[in-house]
Amino acid sequence: DWRMDSFVEQSINAIREKVGDGKVLLALSGGVDSSVAAGLLSRAIGKQLTCVFVDHGLLRKNEGDEVEAVFGPDGDFDLNFIRVNAQERYYNKLAGVTEPEQKRKIIGEEFIRVFEEEAKKIGAVDFLAQGTIYPDVVESGLGGESAVIKSHHNVGGLPDYVDFKEIIEPLRDLFKDEVRKAGLELGIPEELVYRQPFPGPGLGIRIIGEVTAEKVRIVQDADAIYREEIAKAGLDREINQYFAALTNMRSVGVMGDERTYDYAVALRAVKTIDFMTAEAAEIPYEVLNKVMSRIINEVRGVNRVFYDLTSKPPGTIEFE
Ligand code: XMP
Repeated sequence: DWRMDSFVEQSINAIREKVGDGKVLLALSGGVDSSVAAGLLSRAIGKQLTCVFVDHGLLRKNEGDEVEAVFGPDGDFDLNFIRVNAQERYYNKLAGVTEPEQKRKIIGEEFIRVFEEEAKKIGAVDFLAQGTIYPDVVESGLGGESAVIKSHHNVGGLPDYVDFKEIIEPLRDLFKDEVRKAGLELGIPEELVYRQPFPGPGLGIRIIGEVTAEKVRIVQDADAIYREEIAKAGLDREINQYFAALTNMRSVGVMGDERTYDYAVALRAVKTIDFMTAEAAEIPYEVLNKVMSRIINEVRGVNRVFYDLTSKPPGTIEFE
């Protein structure tokens, strides 16, 4: 794609010019935008870039390792990669907390604390990089609907807890499809470039009620099976967002000749243009059935699987 070719090239030049021999710090979430920003900055300034990746223990199965494989020392990008394994910290903070907005707040604040600690170790930097893209610029100006209904911690002011001089936002003029093209151009793997959106609070808002390590394990395993089967059925690019969530409901079932009293997993899949309204996707029954039987058989602690038919509104896409 000639246009992206030239975007990547021009943007590398612009970054070099702006940054000079300065130091740049980026919070890498592993999402499309921050990953493409990291790739671009890495190609432009190499080790002048430090990426801090916080594994809050609320990521999808194997996601932390996947991000590390791409951006860590064994990957193809030249940069300083710092992975913070903060799982225990998050689980401790979240123990006993059931209210959704309270969970979001704790997860957001803990991120700030962890990032702040890392930033202190690194010391003063010249630039704080952000993966802001054009729709973010527009949406935060208008105050998007979901910003009101749910507090999205990734749309907010500038962090005052990092010692930096200037913000650098290399993707500020791009739409999502252009960000993806730039990502491919930069050699970021397709799985990462075409990733579906994943909320900042992660599985924290896909586990209804209290978050525990055990519940995270259940929802990660169920979700991995669901994603695998959706991909096998060739539906992954067609459905805009799909995931497993863990309801807080336990019910009676039977396994062999044993009575069980286990959790119910809910499957969600939506088609949407702007995530403000959405319809439940029509997944072929055989696919749902396969997912159900694999989850029941392979994930310990689950004895029921539901498919969520609710559109948005009145439902939201996430469960919390
Ligand atoms: P809802 O659940 O409000 O979600 O219909 C709309 C879109 O926003 C994502 N979402 C979030 N993203 N922090 C985020 O970064 C959040 O707290 C959050 N809550 C919802 C959701 O995944 C969907 O794409």
